[in-house]
Amino acid sequence: MIYSRIEGSGRHLPEKILTNHDLEKLVDTSDEWIKTRTGVERRHIASKDQATSDLGIEAAKKAIIDANISKEDIDLIVLGTTTPDYVFPNTATLIQEGLGIHGCPAFSLEAACSGFVYALSTADKFVRSGSSKCALVIGAEVMTKLIDWEDRSTCVLFGDGAGALILKPSEEQGIIDCKLGADGKYKDLLWYPAGVSKNFDKLGGNLTNLEMSGNDVFKVAVKTLGNVAEDTLNQNNINKDELDWLVPHQANLRIIQATAKRLELPMNKVILTVHDHGNTSSASIPMAFDVGVKDGRIQRGQLILMEAFGGGFTWGSVLMRY
Ligand code: COA
Repeated sequence: MIYSRIEGSGRHLPEKILTNHDLEKLVDTSDEWIKTRTGVERRHIASKDQATSDLGIEAAKKAIIDANISKEDIDLIVLGTTTPDYVFPNTATLIQEGLGIHGCPAFSLEAACSGFVYALSTADKFVRSGSSKCALVIGAEVMTKLIDWEDRSTCVLFGDGAGALILKPSEEQGIIDCKLGADGKYKDLLWYPAGVSKNFDKLGGNLTNLEMSGNDVFKVAVKTLGNVAEDTLNQNNINKDELDWLVPHQANLRIIQATAKRLELPMNKVILTVHDHGNTSSASIPMAFDVGVKDGRIQRGQLILMEAFGGGFTWGSVLMRY
């Protein structure tokens, strides 16, 4: 049996850091409120001329070095993003060009904060079917460009960044199972209501903003993530205590704690970056994974569960041995 296995990872964060104390000067909020309700302490913010592709290129370069491959080995690029550079060409092609690679398929997937698990699950199918021998999978976002900096209920939550993984086929166990789901009936609980075919004239600037019913999102997220995490383990006959690491989407510390509780996992088995990164949408899982690998916590052979939830709603999980 052929598995797809992670060969290397990388992350890139914009230099500029905005702390909760900086936000206290912009809106009526406090470091204490933000920390207690969300777990966020600071976030990285892309500069005016820093695009999603710029962050994605830097993360990809680090993943290529980490995997000890040459960029020419890459035969597939899949990017999860909600904040593409342009309407077209898709941002994965811009990353391809920035890396100096030509010819391989490159496409973006749009599934809000679940974008990376959707991208990883898609690339896994290419690798396992033999269509790809070396896939670059990226989550990259500049969510703060969609933010209304006068809306305290959303501007405190998000940050920017990119994470990348290199996937290769292996006879050793790698990705074991991916589960994806969506339910469009919840679309207006978390959305940015402008795009190409609706409200195009309002796209960008602060004319239309990200809108969120925080409480409702919170409740559905906790329930759905708990269900998808438990189902993934049950359907693969894995006991909760066999799991080495939970690498969750980093939207809110309290949502992560609820999922860990449902999995009976102590918080020291959860990779947390929400305090440093905020919610970076599709970028949060690959960046958290890279943090855990680079600081030595995530080791080869360990059992890892990634899980994400986002606008749509969309959700998903990836169970793997690293
Ligand atoms: N600073 C201070 N007060 C704030 C605030 C801020 N940044 N944002 C909202 N408040 C106020 C509200 O106005 C409200 O005041 P009121 O009681 O006088 O009306 C009060 O805090 C409580 O607001 P509420 O929305 O009920 O807070 P909450 O405990 O639900 O926390 C979120 C808000 C957004 C942190 C929380 O709902 C959440 O994390 N939801 C999930 C969001 C998410 O994860 N989205 C992405 C999914 S991928």
